[in-house]
Amino acid sequence: MNKVILSAVAGAFCMSAAVSHAADAERGKALFTQQAAPPCAVCHTYSKAGSNGMVGPNLDDLKPTAEAVRLAVTNGVGVMPAYGQMLSAEDIESLVLFVSQQ
Ligand code: HEC
Repeated sequence: MNKVILSAVAGAFCMSAAVSHAADAERGKALFTQQAAPPCAVCHTYSKAGSNGMVGPNLDDLKPTAEAVRLAVTNGVGVMPAYGQMLSAEDIESLVLFVSQQ
């Protein structure tokens, strides 16, 4: 009986730990500026990231929708690499939160 309660408590703890890894814009910023490989900042100008890359479109001007960010990051566009195999779904959603403006 005690074992059952213990594993239920452990299960609840794991679930709350998972929630703390959910998508969030701060995580998106870290990925954008440093952690994605290559970091988005290398190619994109975006004031919220303090970046001034000149290879891709200026994201302040582009104001992409959530869906446009999700698609570009997952599948790549033109010379922009696809990150779908490198980043988790949570990481991609964090980038969507940080970058999308509509
Ligand atoms: C190697 C340079 C490079 C990197 C790194 C890069 N991009 Fe891009 N990105 C581009 C280029 C170039 C385009 C325009 C592609 C085109 O329209 O042909 C683009 C387009 C986009 C678009 C617009 C898509 C659309 O629908 O018009 C978004 C949003 C975007 N990138 C976000 C990101 C994010 C977020 C990251 C990091 C995970 C990233 N980019 C990394 C070069 C890059």
